[in-house]
Amino acid sequence: MIEQEKIEEVKRQTDIVDIIGRYVQLKKMGKNYRGLCPFHSEKNPSFYVNPEKGIYYCFGCKKGGNAINFLMEYEKLDFPDAIKRLAKNLGIEIDTTKGLRYKELYEVNEQACQFYAHCLTKDIGRRGQEYLLRRNMKLDKLQDFRLGYAPASGGLTTFMRQKGFSVARLQQAGLISTNRELFRDRLIFPIFNLSGRIIGFGGRGIDDFIQPKYLNSPETPIFKKGDGLYGLYQSKEKIRSKGEVMLVEGYFDLLSIYQHGFDNISAPLGTSLTEQQALLLSRFARKAMILFDGDLSGIKAALRAIGLLIDAQVDVFVTLLPENSDPDTFINAQGAEALQELVGNAADFFHFYKGVVKTDTVAQEIALIKDLIQIIGRIKDPIRYDRYLKYAAHVFDIPVETIQKEINGKVKTPKRKIQTTRISQEEELMAMILSGYEYFGVVKKYLKSDDFIEDGIKRLFKKLLKEENFDIAELSEIVDEVLREKLLAGIMRGEPVSEEGMLDAIKKYKGQVMEKRLIKKQNEAYKRGDEAAGEQYNKELLALKRELLNINTENAASGEQ
Ligand code: GTP
Ligand code: MN
Repeated sequence: MIEQEKIEEVKRQTDIVDIIGRYVQLKKMGKNYRGLCPFHSEKNPSFYVNPEKGIYYCFGCKKGGNAINFLMEYEKLDFPDAIKRLAKNLGIEIDTTKGLRYKELYEVNEQACQFYAHCLTKDIGRRGQEYLLRRNMKLDKLQDFRLGYAPASGGLTTFMRQKGFSVARLQQAGLISTNRELFRDRLIFPIFNLSGRIIGFGGRGIDDFIQPKYLNSPETPIFKKGDGLYGLYQSKEKIRSKGEVMLVEGYFDLLSIYQHGFDNISAPLGTSLTEQQALLLSRFARKAMILFDGDLSGIKAALRAIGLLIDAQVDVFVTLLPENSDPDTFINAQGAEALQELVGNAADFFHFYKGVVKTDTVAQEIALIKDLIQIIGRIKDPIRYDRYLKYAAHVFDIPVETIQKEINGKVKTPKRKIQTTRISQEEELMAMILSGYEYFGVVKKYLKSDDFIEDGIKRLFKKLLKEENFDIAELSEIVDEVLREKLLAGIMRGEPVSEEGMLDAIKKYKGQVMEKRLIKKQNEAYKRGDEAAGEQYNKELLALKRELLNINTENAASGEQ
């Protein structure tokens, strides 16, 4: 059980655009954000997110809800887990024991980072300083990376003890393994998460014969190698503003070109790029420039990264460096301008793919074409998709239709007809009530559940009266899917709600919809010759009119306060 208070705090602080923006590329359109729906396949965006109301809605497949619903639907989480996920993003500790443990691990890493960085500036760090010098690294340009040196003689444990941390804590943080300090005589690269906290370390052996050449912290509760990217914290704003990320293979490549002014870079953490990392990049960049070594393993890694990045809807270009060089050696030998030029001539993934995959036989060529077509089929942006489609048709001299058939046969595209949802006036009013839920106190003064005739709306209104903290995520438990979709569409389409607007809408509902209903019933009664019923309806009509006047006066009165 999560405390209601925590749930409210999480809901208050959650920014739905930020949450959904992690999975969907959103573009601002007026007060909404729009993107390609992650729940059905589409080429024209019909998925909307409204930050003011905190909801999303797809006019295509009708899926919608708030940030909690989104996580439940997309990540297949249940309600508590969705709340926990949001809380984690916000840094709100829900499970206090776990929260404390995380906090302590961050603190251990922070102190360790300070220790290593300190060593690098002192005599004991001479080997580190000399190594940096040898490799042409300028510490003053790399301050954001907080590099350090782990002395061959150790010393971290003593330092940390003085700071009050037990050996057990160091073990949990992965800094001590089998009673030995993990990093010795290594240059230290602290690894940051997106909020700038240190989650782990990478260490390069000072002597080239040291095995392994690079050593990373083991996975800990706060460090998962496949989840984060080196340098992303330092580069993310530049990546966001340029819309482009340069992807290199390792720590040294990154730092080496960073100090020459390439400041929108990331690198995986010693493994090949993962799906998680591609998705993470897609939150910041529309385009990725892969800058890998020109050897076979570099090509293989690039091919793999292309697929993942295209799936994350990031456009991919590849700069292949000359054989036996990497971005670090290249920039040191040729200079920043030469690298810039190389990058400027990068091939899009299509050309790259075609260029590096050998096709000596017809069978190999067919395999290459099919591979490329599959990648193209996963592009959701209609313009890019179209461009690559036509391009493939041209290059391989195959009719566009044939390629499309191949794509449609292999790539699953569940087709759902797009239809505009028509919603009734009471559904519209209910959508507005949910939209402006903070004014429910006023709403319930003027409306009762019997003012509605649709069952679902009635039930929902009763629930609203009973419950104090209603959440849109609960809609599916009260109304059927059709009504839920209509309400979400109404919320998404509606204007932001003010108290005055709310009262106006209630007045309109009572004065037009309800009044018409009563008049119709009255006419029917008179037609039947049922005078008594007719009189009764007459009374109800009069009462309704009086009520309408009331709404007016009280509204004006509250306006004066
Ligand atoms: P330098 O030799 O320092 O220039 O490194 P590099 O980046 O040129 O090396 P390489 O291309 O061999 O490796 C690229 C990345 O792979 C490194 O930054 C590390 O993250 C990772 N890596 C390389 N060697 C090892 C290793 O022995 N163990 C682990 N865990 N990772 C490694
Ligand atoms: Mn290198």
